[in-house]
Amino acid sequence: MGRLCAAVLLCASVPAPAQQLPLMPWPAQVSVGQGTLRIGTDFSISIAGAGAGDARVKAAALRTMMRLARQTGLPLPAALPKTEEAMLNIVIEKPDHKPPQRLGDDESYALSIASDRIRLSSDGPLGVLRGLETFLQLVTPCLGDQPGFCAPAVEIHDNPRFPWRGLSLDVSRHFIPVEGIKRTIDGLAAVKLNVLHWHLSDDQGFRVESKKFPKLQQLGSDGWYYTQAEIRDVVAYARDRGVRVVPEFDVPGHSTSWLAAYPNLASKPGTYQIVHDKGDPAGVIDPTRESTYKFLDGLFGEMAKLFPDEYFHIGGDEVSAQEWTSQPKIRAFMKLHKLADPKALQAYFNKRLQKILAHYGKKMVGWDEILAPELPRSILIQSWRGTKSLAEAARQGYTGILSAGYYLDLMQSAAQHYAVDPLGGDAAKLSPEEQARVLGGEAAQWEELVTAETLDAKLWPRLAAIAERFWSPQNTTDVASMYARLDSTNRWLEWLGLTQRSNLKLMRERLAGNMPVGPLNAFAAILEPVKGYERHRGPYGSATPFNHLVDAIPPESDAARMFGMAVDAYLSSPNVAAAAELRAILAAWSKAAEDVRPLLASNSLLAEDLPVADEVTKLCGISEQALDYASSGSPAGWKQNALDAIKDASRHTANLLLPFAPAVQKLVEVTR
Ligand code: ACM
Repeated sequence: MGRLCAAVLLCASVPAPAQQLPLMPWPAQVSVGQGTLRIGTDFSISIAGAGAGDARVKAAALRTMMRLARQTGLPLPAALPKTEEAMLNIVIEKPDHKPPQRLGDDESYALSIASDRIRLSSDGPLGVLRGLETFLQLVTPCLGDQPGFCAPAVEIHDNPRFPWRGLSLDVSRHFIPVEGIKRTIDGLAAVKLNVLHWHLSDDQGFRVESKKFPKLQQLGSDGWYYTQAEIRDVVAYARDRGVRVVPEFDVPGHSTSWLAAYPNLASKPGTYQIVHDKGDPAGVIDPTRESTYKFLDGLFGEMAKLFPDEYFHIGGDEVSAQEWTSQPKIRAFMKLHKLADPKALQAYFNKRLQKILAHYGKKMVGWDEILAPELPRSILIQSWRGTKSLAEAARQGYTGILSAGYYLDLMQSAAQHYAVDPLGGDAAKLSPEEQARVLGGEAAQWEELVTAETLDAKLWPRLAAIAERFWSPQNTTDVASMYARLDSTNRWLEWLGLTQRSNLKLMRERLAGNMPVGPLNAFAAILEPVKGYERHRGPYGSATPFNHLVDAIPPESDAARMFGMAVDAYLSSPNVAAAAELRAILAAWSKAAEDVRPLLASNSLLAEDLPVADEVTKLCGISEQALDYASSGSPAGWKQNALDAIKDASRHTANLLLPFAPAVQKLVEVTR
């Protein structure tokens, strides 16, 4: 711990009272002062300093006024005062570079809240944007009997740990309309993420209008694509909020939608359709034809203008080598050019692409398959298969970002993602110089099983925990504190306009039809979707309706997590009060499983969940018996029967699992 973290300054690893502040991501340095600042109708914002003219800061200040007005109910003007002095004084020391926003642009800021004034200072506009989000998170109803809204007196000095903090968002498998993208950008900015990596093409759809190659959207998209005007609008919206937009056009694999439009690009001659259902045939672009590079030069040139960011993602993942090696013409090309294997052929392809992109002023990004010594050190590697490729890339002089461990579509808990560090695993062994090449990370949301309706619930609030991993000091690892703050984060994200809780609630109401939804909500609260790729193994396609109970619950059950903690507390110190707490929870869950039965039986969409209600009842019964037998000892054979029943109840019926089953097992295992 550095000198600055001693005494009153509370650094990331230090618990209460600062950890009670509803901040996420946790700032680099926080010290809590005396008293609070009350937000009243006189609240105003002024902007001064050499960078005061930045339009993004003015817009952010106005948004802050509007958000505060909505949160507090105060009639705050949607305008900034003419005077230099206000309650919140923003000082920007330096003017910004010219657009676009660049990797590494300064995002640090200092926020000082006293009982009558707030000062937010930074070297550049991005720091102000980050600091305003911190300020907004601190505004809560005043404590005690004080009416209104307050912010605590604090001194915050904050800066990000990593300069590249992103979300990779697949809009090919399921299209996300512009309003969903903008809402997501609002969320990214609120938790200080700064990159939207937009996965715009895949086998299932090419999602951008090309004026040069219009068949891409006409034949490659089912009609769901962004017009160029919409793309410009989103890019400007993101820039206003301090978020870079990095487009991905995935080649040479994951490209069947391109081949549906331009079959001459394909390695294997034939006609292609965009992939609608899992298992539909997929093709790969032919890297041996000059016409391929002419096409890519034309398209990338057009897209390079549309997306001003310095980085441009070419995908490069999961190329089916067989699509190449099965073609005599491609084998002959490989022989002629002394390309020993498909990996060498892909490196040849990537080298050509890198030259095209460099011509348009872009740096190339790709998934870790593109790592090959033939490529210049200017490319950036996105590691999705583990930290090994990230470490290898850094050792060889490449920059990289980590996505392995941050796949939100795998339905893991916030704690699991939170435990993954971009400089962990193989990257922990890198030298400081090599570690400096690890620029950060990106969460990834693949959309095979996600729709526009469920998007927010699949992203939030877990993405906020990942954002903290990328922003906050490495020693910010207190999981209990993270969950406590994630809970408030989950709330304010909804106030901001995200729909991760409200949309699921609506979906459950739709499932309940004309019956009261209460029992379904109580039952749903103790379930989780199956994890990893288990659900992907079933049949699905772009027309599959994702409207079952498993789609209408969050990836993580807070109730089950808390039950697990209560069981651990009971087992570490068994006592009557702790047992009574567990019994109360179990009784409520048994009742929920009983009350929900008529509803499940009444709706053909829910009937598949009836066996899950049986499993809940069974596990609750076993838990209660385990508590009964904790001191008296269990009858002969009971323990083995109970363990068998727990196993039997973990069949993942209707893609649902009972996340409290491991805690039940613990209760059973300790019985005599
Ligand atoms: C990937 O998940 N195929 C990058």
